[in-house]
Amino acid sequence: MSSPHHPSLWQRVAQAPKAELHVHIEGTLEPEMVFALAQRNGVRLPHDSVEALRAAYRFDDLQSFLDLYYACASVLLTEQDFHDMAMAYFERAVADHVVRAEVFFDPQTHTARGVPMATVIKGLQSAGQAAQARWGLSVDWILCFLRHLSEADAFQTLAEALPHREAFIGVGLDSGERGNPPSKFTQVFARCRALGLHIVAHAGEEGSSAYIDQALDLLQAERIDHGVRCTDDPDLVRRLARQGTPLTVCPLSNTKLRVFDQMRDHNLPHLLSQGLCVMVNSDDPAYFGGYVNDNYRALMDAFPDLDAASMHQLLRNSLTASFAPQSQQAEWLSALDAAFA
Ligand code: ADE
Ligand code: ZN
Repeated sequence: MSSPHHPSLWQRVAQAPKAELHVHIEGTLEPEMVFALAQRNGVRLPHDSVEALRAAYRFDDLQSFLDLYYACASVLLTEQDFHDMAMAYFERAVADHVVRAEVFFDPQTHTARGVPMATVIKGLQSAGQAAQARWGLSVDWILCFLRHLSEADAFQTLAEALPHREAFIGVGLDSGERGNPPSKFTQVFARCRALGLHIVAHAGEEGSSAYIDQALDLLQAERIDHGVRCTDDPDLVRRLARQGTPLTVCPLSNTKLRVFDQMRDHNLPHLLSQGLCVMVNSDDPAYFGGYVNDNYRALMDAFPDLDAASMHQLLRNSLTASFAPQSQQAEWLSALDAAFA
């Protein structure tokens, strides 16, 4: 593969220590594993081969993706299934030199099918612990509420999850954005803040920049997931820069879901130039054609002007925007800075 970049910059980026702050564990389920789990569990699938399923991975928008994503998640039934899915992701992440992963999970996708909350959480939690023991990967989990469901449903989910309070560090908000503003979830996020949970929210992916304001003002989100529509409101861009609010940007996701037509239309380099704390993430790597390093690569190929200083800044942002302890961040940052010295 030829690249407009000097290979050494790409090599440095690929091998740099980095954090992944926006990845849905259900979005790491590769078609091969969908089929293997369907067979193991006797679940019938609408596609009759791995190739047919992979061929269906062409999306017009967020909802067309979510329909397939929820359908594939129906193969997950046992604690072992959740464990195996997560271990497969951690192995890929470690290969991309991820040192810290803050991973979303969507419990309502599973509890609505009768899978107990304990099954979901114990399977994921044991995988995170195994990845830490095996590869030294730092892992924490973020429970996401599905915004197309009601706030009462979110409260019920929180109640079911609280016996496992030590298994997750925060809560997020995902699923279909349009018509489901953050304001719908003000009360449940207030409860989560009172419990000491970190707060993040998807906002400004397909939805308007006003949803980003709501996520900041009503939910008190510490990070915005996606957030790329902020550029519709120059005051908001200035606010995000002033506050240093991180935006967890997902380049391949945004092109696959038609938020931007092509990678060269993406506004990540612009956001970086405005001083925003943006970084690169994979979102749903099994569906969007790549893990975190593939996202860095696609961005660098589309923007040859992203120089070593820019790439270094993106990688630094991934680490400083994480919820890992400062002392831990400092160790990763010094290794990163040494690689870019
Ligand atoms: N769930 C999984 N991926 C998502 C995305 N990109 N936006 C909203 N919900 C999601
Ligand atoms: Zn997402």
